[in-house]
Amino acid sequence: MSETIREIYSEKEITDKIKELGRQISRDYDGEEIYVICILKGAVYFATELTKRITVPVTLDFMAASSYGANTESSGEVKIVKDLDESLEGKNAIVVEDIIDTGRTLKRLMEILKERGPKSLRLCTLLDKPDRRVVDVHVDYTGFTVEDRFIVGYGLDYAQKYRNLPYIGELNF
Ligand code: IMP
Ligand code: MG
Repeated sequence: MSETIREIYSEKEITDKIKELGRQISRDYDGEEIYVICILKGAVYFATELTKRITVPVTLDFMAASSYGANTESSGEVKIVKDLDESLEGKNAIVVEDIIDTGRTLKRLMEILKERGPKSLRLCTLLDKPDRRVVDVHVDYTGFTVEDRFIVGYGLDYAQKYRNLPYIGELNF
């Protein structure tokens, strides 16, 4: 089996986009503090670069969720594998995700976080595949909108491989 990767967004394009998102978030939260929730593992590369570009005070935390599915599609049944270190009560939380596909995992996760009483709760994703959406998820900040392709790199994996690619590419089999 040979896999090939076609670059879609270069490292430079990603960096420019992250700077833009950082400026936008910094403006939107002027005078406030942000609690950034990085969803492991895919969002790690994005979240660390993004938080470096945010100029208001940031606390970075991590969360890992797994969704059970009967097949390759996520089911929306979410299990929290690693939870946050702190309470969300009264905080401005931003969930940082790698990609929104069907939206099932994130919809459920956002519901769970909302119940914890944050002052505000927003969603920021590096990539969005809107054509694949099966449930409604409101995305506040989007890096790139992509077609229905399998994406790897910059944190995104295929069977745990390719996360470390410095660019975003399309995987072909
Ligand atoms: P959703 O619940 O279907 O939106 O699942 C989203 C999750 O599926 C993402 O956080 C990724 O872990 C994974 N995923 C969806 N599309 C891709 C892709 O194109 N490449 C790599 N992982 C993906
Ligand atoms: Mg993920």
